[in-house]
Amino acid sequence: MRAKLPTGVLLGAAVWLAVSSSGVPAEPITVVLGAQTREVAALREELRDRQDHKILGLPFWEGRLAGRRVVVAKMSAGKVNAAMIATLAIEHFRPAEVLVTGIAGGLHPDLAPGDLVIARQTVQHDMVRHSDSGVEYRGARHPVTGRRASAFLDMPTTLVAIAQQAAARVSFIPLVGDDRRTSPHLVRVITGIVATGDAFVESESKRRELREQLNADCVEMEGGAVAQVCYTLGVPCLVIRCMSDMADQTAMADLEAFADAAALNSARLVYAIVDLLHDGQLDALTLQQKKK
Ligand code: ADE
Repeated sequence: MRAKLPTGVLLGAAVWLAVSSSGVPAEPITVVLGAQTREVAALREELRDRQDHKILGLPFWEGRLAGRRVVVAKMSAGKVNAAMIATLAIEHFRPAEVLVTGIAGGLHPDLAPGDLVIARQTVQHDMVRHSDSGVEYRGARHPVTGRRASAFLDMPTTLVAIAQQAAARVSFIPLVGDDRRTSPHLVRVITGIVATGDAFVESESKRRELREQLNADCVEMEGGAVAQVCYTLGVPCLVIRCMSDMADQTAMADLEAFADAAALNSARLVYAIVDLLHDGQLDALTLQQKKK
């Protein structure tokens, strides 16, 4: 029996297989988005044959990364910025997939600064209905159909599998050394739930709430917004995060100490994912799923 593919993958494949005006299938493009300069700088520096674009005055950098056509852009912090840049990038470049890279605050008890989360799902922790009986987390309505999406948006299993495969190849920078962190587990990579909201979390009670109510593994400020745009427009999306802090009272100080290296760890994983995408791994995995 054929395995059901996530809608995003099918629609994304349609974008991917788009035929250019010359009749030749268009070469797939990967869009890579980060919020801060430190989250995109290393990838931008690696772009070969770089072309700089401005769309409505906002910069997008196109070039080749590990041989694949890639567009890198900086979103700045927050969900509105993220949605704006993702929408412009999709409209202008018609990417085969969108990758979000950068730092986050860890919530899973096994995580420490330097560790990574490959999103299996994203959830917007501030898209809620507040009532006296509590908080109900809700997905957004589709602008045309009016259908409400699930609060938790799935990342395509194919992209998650590629990221897991890529992670095994990357040499990450270890940021903390403690008793649990003996080689080869200096840096942990888990697949889990990324919570997104327009809030920097540096609160023990808020981090506990996000963990208990949403089972979230980390918290950041853009991934879920990009995922919603991609879900609505039918483009596969994957969020990658490296922990800069633990979203607790020392979050800001930890972020200042660890963010540069954490951003680099996330960028290294993105590079390895792009490398596998260039090797045609998405084709292979999609086919394997179809055969099942
Ligand atoms: N990005 C990095 N750390 C964060 C935190 N603690 N809260 C929200 N976004 C973050």
